[in-house]
Amino acid sequence: VSLLTYNTFGINAKARFFCEITTIEELELVLKLEEYPNKFVISGGSNMLLTKDIDALVLYLNLKGITMVSESDTEVVINVMAGENWHQLVLWTLEQDYGGLENMSLIPGNTGTSPIQNIGAYGVELKDTFESCEAMEIATQEIKSFSKEDCCFGYRESFFKNEGKGKYIITSVNLKLSKKDHVLNTSYGAIDQELQHMGITAPTIKDVSNAVIAIRKSKLPDPAELGNSGSFFKNPIIHKIDFLRFSEKHPEAPFYKLSEENYKIPAGWLIEQSGFKGKRYGDAGVHKNQALVLVNYGTATGKEIVDLAHKIIDTVYAKFNIRILPEVNVI
Ligand code: EPU
Repeated sequence: VSLLTYNTFGINAKARFFCEITTIEELELVLKLEEYPNKFVISGGSNMLLTKDIDALVLYLNLKGITMVSESDTEVVINVMAGENWHQLVLWTLEQDYGGLENMSLIPGNTGTSPIQNIGAYGVELKDTFESCEAMEIATQEIKSFSKEDCCFGYRESFFKNEGKGKYIITSVNLKLSKKDHVLNTSYGAIDQELQHMGITAPTIKDVSNAVIAIRKSKLPDPAELGNSGSFFKNPIIHKIDFLRFSEKHPEAPFYKLSEENYKIPAGWLIEQSGFKGKRYGDAGVHKNQALVLVNYGTATGKEIVDLAHKIIDTVYAKFNIRILPEVNVI
């Protein structure tokens, strides 16, 4: 089975065996199948780069449903099944006038994978509305609940990317959202300017979402038109000592101060300064509006994209003495 339409990079890798999972019971049954010892889970396919065929039973996780868990005058907790598309969920919350997800509009992928890398954009991360999640332990097929603390969220990091890697399949996510007196977060990026540009002075959560959508559309390629996985790299975090040395040489470089010790440098800037922005090598390339995003112009293989990524990592390191790391899961 070709996985071409199951990964947003549009890589034509093949699965030896394939099945779609639409209920928890099916997931449990399939995980018990001993004749397929190797299993590989795919969901939104928006944060993976397939560099080879998958010699395993691929489980396409397509669990659906949104239900109310609890509600007070001011807040709701909703349970969202793993296979719900993230952006469709955001639009649904806006229709109900539930606040909290608006800054994370248009992030590709499904809800079930959102905790793995603690998705985030425009000053808001999943952890800000995350209550808990349920996950099936692959070895025992038991469903376990993980609190926010259990998940150990960090910048594009969580328990599921570290100790929990390969051990659990997240089946649903519980999010706590505001019902009124929404707290808007418009200072990050160019949201304020975009709202001004749209002529809006008293923004609603829907307006914030529309502003984020407009900004993202101007910078980031639509996977339906041009294969990509969003940011291919993480923004590197460097220690103050290295930062001072770096900023002395490059006073014009943008940065975010995270703490007294730590500074985050936009990888997009480092890559652009290394001359890669808009470059194309065969069908693999660096996006013309956002150097952090690698793209597949058509029939690039995962290997070609990875080779380009290594070339970028090495060039950035040679120029800035900063090692950038992939954010995307390279398989
Ligand atoms: N920049 C450049 N050249 C580029 C790209 C960026 O010089 O080609 C500079 C910009 O001028 C700006 C700075 O880098 O000064 C930051 O750029 P931007 O606001 O576009 O955000 P980012 O740090 O590059 C991160 C996330 C994005 C998220 C945006 C907005 C990571 C790895 N990426 O990108 O997330 O949308 O902030 O919050 O943290 C994703 O994870 O897939 C993703 C798109």
